[in-house]
Amino acid sequence: MIVVLIGPPASGKGTQAGAICQRFGIPQISTGDMLRAAKAAGTPLGLAAARVMDLGQLVPDEVVIGLVDERIKHVDCQPGFLLDGFPRTVPQAEALERVLVRAGRKLDAVVQLDVPRALLVERAILRRTDKRTGKIYHLKYNPPPADAVLEHRADDQEAQVNKRLDAYEDITSALLPFYQGRGLLRRVEGVGSLDEVRARVVAALDA
Ligand code: AP5
Repeated sequence: MIVVLIGPPASGKGTQAGAICQRFGIPQISTGDMLRAAKAAGTPLGLAAARVMDLGQLVPDEVVIGLVDERIKHVDCQPGFLLDGFPRTVPQAEALERVLVRAGRKLDAVVQLDVPRALLVERAILRRTDKRTGKIYHLKYNPPPADAVLEHRADDQEAQVNKRLDAYEDITSALLPFYQGRGLLRRVEGVGSLDEVRARVVAALDA
């Protein structure tokens, strides 16, 4: 099972990815998490990427394509994998197709989480992540336990969130007709409780 999860910033990709990966026994590959890990490690790639990410802009295609190309060669990706936040541009989607063809593999489904923009700013600015476990919480909709060590992402300030939403609408949304044309797109309503959305995603993939 090779799945791509597409959706605007804060639509719930990271939240739903864990459940999908558990159900299908595949690893989650999040380019955002990989870039944040490189930033935390202080690598040259991480520090260069952080400057772009903190402004709410997209990291250059060749950087993320290189990260994904390398990651999916790992042995844990043999049964399949879920891509969360990649591809985000048509050149990234075309590069993914080339990489998969070279490996004799193919994409099974692209799940689009659909959430209106009006809800996304609140989801992003009240998001907190537990530094120790990586778990994603929301101060209103999914409150963290008292012992969580909470982190507020640098790009989750309102101005940056709006820039990220603009980038999604201007650039990433072009992937929807791209994958629709290939018969891979499955649209899932992303408004509802975490469990309701999870059930819809799993049903879309089971279908
Ligand atoms: P990335 O980390 O991928 O960020 P994103 O796409 O903006 O997505 P988010 O992580 O913000 O949100 P999410 O959809 O995972 O939502 P979540 O589950 O956390 O990328 C960050 C940056 O890295 C990019 O801006 C770019 O600079 C760079 N980058 C990454 N990949 C790249 C690529 N391929 N090309 C170029 N640049 C790249 O949920 C959000 C909140 O909502 C949480 O608080 C959660 O608890 C809450 N929530 C979730 N579901 C619900 C629900 N049903 N109801 C109520 N609240 C909910």
